[in-house]
Amino acid sequence: MNNFVFENKTRVIFGKDSEKSVGSETLKYSNKVLLHYGGGSIKKTGLYDRVVKSLKEENIEIFELGGVLPNPRVDLVREGIELCRKEDIGFILAVGGGSVIDSAKAIGIGYFYDGDVWDIYDYKVSVDKMLPLGVVLTIPAAGSETSPGSVITNVDKELKRGFGALCMRPVFSILNPELTFTLPDYQTACGISDMFAHVMERYFVPTKNVDLTDRLCEATMKTIINQAYNILKNPMDYNARAEIMYCGTVAHNDSLDPGRGGDWASHEMEHEVSAVTDVAHGAGLSIIFPAWIKYVYKENMDKFIQFFTRVFNIEQDFENPENTVLRGISTLESFYKDLKLPIRLSEIDFDSSRVDELAKKASFDSSRTLGAFKVLNKDDIKEIYKLAL
Ligand code: NZQ
Ligand code: ZN
Repeated sequence: MNNFVFENKTRVIFGKDSEKSVGSETLKYSNKVLLHYGGGSIKKTGLYDRVVKSLKEENIEIFELGGVLPNPRVDLVREGIELCRKEDIGFILAVGGGSVIDSAKAIGIGYFYDGDVWDIYDYKVSVDKMLPLGVVLTIPAAGSETSPGSVITNVDKELKRGFGALCMRPVFSILNPELTFTLPDYQTACGISDMFAHVMERYFVPTKNVDLTDRLCEATMKTIINQAYNILKNPMDYNARAEIMYCGTVAHNDSLDPGRGGDWASHEMEHEVSAVTDVAHGAGLSIIFPAWIKYVYKENMDKFIQFFTRVFNIEQDFENPENTVLRGISTLESFYKDLKLPIRLSEIDFDSSRVDELAKKASFDSSRTLGAFKVLNKDDIKEIYKLAL
């Protein structure tokens, strides 16, 4: 096990009606708030009215910026920064999913940076300050409600880039599983795929002697699979929604990776796919992850045998160990198919002639490698995209 420091400052407020406390939680930080949200689902569900009511009860002045798109755009972030500066806003409240939260984080860090906020996502500068951020989460998926990261898309450059700093964790996140009843099946599925991928990214590392976190990862992944099928059977099952919502947080609040780190190659490769196709992140991951496993499993077959036998209950083939892994890969693909997610690039609007270009972008023109389980150069990355076609 490696040395580590673990901290997570986000106050998680979980359960039925928990959004009622949003006004009092916000007032701890400021009486002037930027209310940031997406394309309007919160207005349809009535959540917007409840949040505004709670803020008004505390005499909080509200400035609004809606319209965050899935794969959130840097242009709206720039607008948000202007608004916060002009109105001297002291707090950002993100009501929505990962896209809204990530956009809010970008506004919060961009507020303190004099240049263009994209410089931060282009890794030209780093930051250590963010306007305080609160969250009312409506979709369990990205884990941004407690994570220190934010992923922003620059449409002009066809780039999607993630940036993270410890100052970027929200100060509070309100998680009411009932808010997820209105999710379209596809969004529920994309969220499940994303949180499952967050655990796999941490599970597949070369670090040895990490038995506890291996087991914590396996428990989280088994719970995600079981509860995913419960939601498929009954989308209004509160307990299943609650389990999935907390799995989404645990998968990405960094409690699973102390002492072991992560791989993250599949995430980086998926971001390039989203950048050129605008596919939902979770649907990109259900395509990339099986291809990544096919390419890397021989590096450490025992780890994959452990994964597939413990998490997917695949019977171990002692005579031909590789069979266990191959059967496991098709079971993982079946899991994605049961969720009605794509498992090949040919199922989404992807132009296969762009494989080389994507590998070039993911490897920063061959100036960086990806991953830790197996370190991948541009040629490796290209092979994985080809396996995903
Ligand atoms: O925009 P509205 O109208 O609100 O609709 C949203 C959106 O269309 C809808 N939705 C959300 N909650 C709903 C709902 N519809 C009905 N009822 C509800 N309760 O769902 C759609 C998707 O929302 P989005 O926020 O895009 O989903 P998600 O939470 O999956 O976020 C995806 C983004 O997070 C990034 C991804 O790359 C992607 O850009 N990630 C962020 C991470 C982080 N900050 O730590 C890590 C992740 O790996 C990920 O990369
Ligand atoms: Zn993700």
